[in-house]
Amino acid sequence: MVKTTSDFQKMKSSREPIVMVTSYDAPGASLCEEAEVDTILVGDSLGMVVLGYESTVPVTIDDMVHHTKAVKRGARNTFIVTDMPFMTYHASLQETMAGARRLMQESGADALKLEGSGEVFVHTKALVDAGVPVVSHLGLTPQTVGVDGGYKVKGKSAAEQEQLLKDAKQAEKAGAFMLVLECVPEEAAKKVQASISIPVIGIGAGRYTDGQVLVYHDITGYYAGHTAKFVKQYTNISEPVQRALKEFKQEVKAGIFPAEEHVFQPLDKHVKLYGD
Ligand code: KIV
Ligand code: NA
Repeated sequence: MVKTTSDFQKMKSSREPIVMVTSYDAPGASLCEEAEVDTILVGDSLGMVVLGYESTVPVTIDDMVHHTKAVKRGARNTFIVTDMPFMTYHASLQETMAGARRLMQESGADALKLEGSGEVFVHTKALVDAGVPVVSHLGLTPQTVGVDGGYKVKGKSAAEQEQLLKDAKQAEKAGAFMLVLECVPEEAAKKVQASISIPVIGIGAGRYTDGQVLVYHDITGYYAGHTAKFVKQYTNISEPVQRALKEFKQEVKAGIFPAEEHVFQPLDKHVKLYGD
């Protein structure tokens, strides 16, 4: 059963941690669904971990539609949140609505995530009024890396923590049903968690949030270059994949692959292309 926004609300009330993992394609999404994660995020981290960009800035609505469709096909029974990418919810409410409509209708996202505060909450409210469940994203917001002068921990000073708390309350007031909090000191996240009634999902936000989100490629060590302090890499799939690729190459060069069992012969009966 696909969870609903009220399920996440109940999980906060009953203190059941909410597990969110990113996905960008059908096989990854299927594995997440089989692992019974509570919700999948089609993050615009897509740009960095899958598309090879230096930041999330080049990611477009088309990219997000394309990958959300694939995720949806791989995980039909999991609640899917999709990121609205860089500069697609700022110019006008009309543009925000047009992008959101594509992400919800064409690709089957269950909710959209918007980074930032201030004017962004006007767009949040308009989306919620139109029936779009919205996740707010505060703290480190990778789409504003240019303005921020790099990826930095947010909410270190008392003033920044106060602002963060105000923003979190505004996000709730604008109608967001969930808040992602990225790279803030644990004590700041704890205050936010206790001050708003919507669930707070942390990434690099410590132990006291209502849930945790990590990037699929970071959890699995899937060609993750450097891993941040807040990441726990549970396995390193790059190593066995690299070994397999090298072995394939060596066996082809040495004439070992394909072997007799991989070959078709004219007199074969009932040849099975797939299966055992
Ligand atoms: O794009 C993403 O993967 C995200 C998470 C890190 C929260 O926004
Ligand atoms: Na993102």
